Amino acid sequence: MGEAAFFVWDPNTLSVHVDSMDGEHQKLIKMMNGLHERHVAGDADRAELARLLDEFAAFVVEHFTHEERYMASIDYPDLGKHKKVHENLLERFATMRQEFDAGDGTLPDSLFQFLKFWLSAHIRGVDAKYGHHAPVR
Ligand SMILES: [Fe+2]
Ligand SMILES: [Fe+2]
Repeated sequence: MGEAAFFVWDPNTLSVHVDSMDGEHQKLIKMMNGLHERHVAGDADRAELARLLDEFAAFVVEHFTHEERYMASIDYPDLGKHKKVHENLLERFATMRQEFDAGDGTLPDSLFQFLKFWLSAHIRGVDAKYGHHAPVR
């Protein structure tokens, strides 16, 4: 501890201006930072890393469900496209999860680069668009 978090939430670039979704994005980032911290510490065993990966994945699924429900509630026209992007991300994550099971019980740095890029690019690119479509609050 004492080190800067792997990925810091920045409202200026990462807010989608929908409070509930901002809250879930912050939780995703926090969970990813927690996993990264245990990875860097170097003393986490396979079972612990697997548990953290699965908790993260479960919350990603929950978040996507909430987000898709929200988009439907505001009649967001690109919901179908956005759902496909979510499906694709889950497939890529599932592949990485399988690679972890087949591997030596450690996580590759590439996994964290992927997660960081994925969270940042998806929130700023795809998620921000429904924020623009959201009714004025
Ligand atoms: Fe999304
Ligand atoms: Fe999102």
